[in-house]
Amino acid sequence: SITRHYKFDIRMENVTRLCQTKSVITVNGKFPGPRIIAREGDRLVIKVVNHVPNNISIHWHGIRQLRSGWADGPAYITQCPIQTGQSYVYNFTVIGQTGTLWYHAHVSWIRATLYGPIVILPRSNTSYPFLKPYKEVPIIFGEWWKANTEAVINQALQTGAGPNNSDAYTINGLPGPLYNCSSPKVKPGKTYLLRLINAALNDELFFKITNHTFTVVDADANYVKPFETDTIFIAPGQTSNVLLKTKTLTSNTKFLMAARPYSTAASGTFDNTTVAGVLEYNSNNMPLSTTAIKGLALPSLPAINATSYVANWTGKFRSLANSQFPVNVPQTVDKNFFFTVGLGNDPCPKNQTCQGPNGTKFAASVNNVSFTLPTTALLQARFFGRPNGVFSTNFPAFPLNRFNYTGTPPNNTMVSHGTKVVVLPYNTTVQLVMQGTSILGAENHPLHLHGFNLYVVGQGTGNFNSSSDPANFNLVDPVERNTVGVPSGGWVAVRFRADNPGVWFMHCHIEIHLSWGLRLAWSVMDGKFPNQKLPPPPSDLPKC
Ligand code: C2O
Repeated sequence: SITRHYKFDIRMENVTRLCQTKSVITVNGKFPGPRIIAREGDRLVIKVVNHVPNNISIHWHGIRQLRSGWADGPAYITQCPIQTGQSYVYNFTVIGQTGTLWYHAHVSWIRATLYGPIVILPRSNTSYPFLKPYKEVPIIFGEWWKANTEAVINQALQTGAGPNNSDAYTINGLPGPLYNCSSPKVKPGKTYLLRLINAALNDELFFKITNHTFTVVDADANYVKPFETDTIFIAPGQTSNVLLKTKTLTSNTKFLMAARPYSTAASGTFDNTTVAGVLEYNSNNMPLSTTAIKGLALPSLPAINATSYVANWTGKFRSLANSQFPVNVPQTVDKNFFFTVGLGNDPCPKNQTCQGPNGTKFAASVNNVSFTLPTTALLQARFFGRPNGVFSTNFPAFPLNRFNYTGTPPNNTMVSHGTKVVVLPYNTTVQLVMQGTSILGAENHPLHLHGFNLYVVGQGTGNFNSSSDPANFNLVDPVERNTVGVPSGGWVAVRFRADNPGVWFMHCHIEIHLSWGLRLAWSVMDGKFPNQKLPPPPSDLPKC
């Protein structure tokens, strides 16, 4: 294992998309940001220097950060943001993970343009549990607004309404040939490893390439039992490695690839546009094809509200669960939690008109608690023993009011507010059932937990039944993910072991839901032994 050094200069850069130029926040002048590459076991030392007017912090999404919680990155959870002119060195080791992860800004909506791939290769003496691909290609989905995205979120929060839709989806930062050009070139008869990342702010996506199939081999940097599919589903925050075997063709040919959202939100409010890229075959030194893009068939994607496709899709994922890649799902549970996850609302302040549901403001919550971000970092407050006035430890383990979660919502749909955390003694085994609610419409919520992988032991439609559903839980080969969909009109059950001391953010990775308060923090306490404790913070940890 080695130490790899990176320097991220956060700068404004003019970027032109959709025939308009705007100044955006970038890493080293690049959009999307540069690739970080490491082998399992390597240490990454990344110096982030903030040259922009905004506060910055960067999260290394999916990295377990074992006993390196100070490097996790969410603003006001593990650190104060890096102020203009300041810098911070993120220092962590990649332990027990191989695959694709990503980094993104973790303050306000700055991740709209500040994101990039993290490629984790197997240790140098090991290989993939599948045939070595000919080439590896990152495919990063994103969203592009012509307007300034900070203005988009600020306006949404002020008026209480949903945010304006983005103007285009992007693949590797480009809106693609339906607008403009972007085309990965491939050779016939080869196997490519596509490293898929959904970096979009607010949309879960289907992805397909005309006349091709994929073999899914990994999810969130964990190997899975390979399965074939022609259509991928990927939620914001999720990553997946898939193999693409190109056809045996003797002439240069083009195929369209396309992504389009999945949404069950009230009709008319979601964005139904499609992003496309081109898969171009470039046979041995033959002249490049001049086939026009126009007239190429778009792949036919599932309907925008294809909930059964998504349920079926998530059910296909199984861990490898063999001697080389064993599953460590807790077989017994110390602590049970049941979280209701969904939308709600806030009253409209006096002397203001709000454009949310029935003149209120949109909000979102877990067990009806809409989490308020503190003005200092939770982990600092805890470490220095000053939690008073920053957070309380009374996050409810169960909803205070029960109702038919997937039926008619209760009369009062207002959320409550607070900075409440869940405290877990070191090494607690946790079972968490997350139940989607139908308040203001049922939606799929991709819940992301920092610092851990979650074993997905069960999922279902309707209301979770605590007496009959656990009997069907998969404790043999459940998939391990850092971002897990709570199904629209259903529930998901996960397990994890609290073996990583620190304060860990958990939130819906649909950015507007996060902004509305669909977030909370787990405070995992130190264990007895030195190697079970969080070390003190680095001296350059930013101050608030
Ligand atoms: Cu990728 Cu807290 O998120």
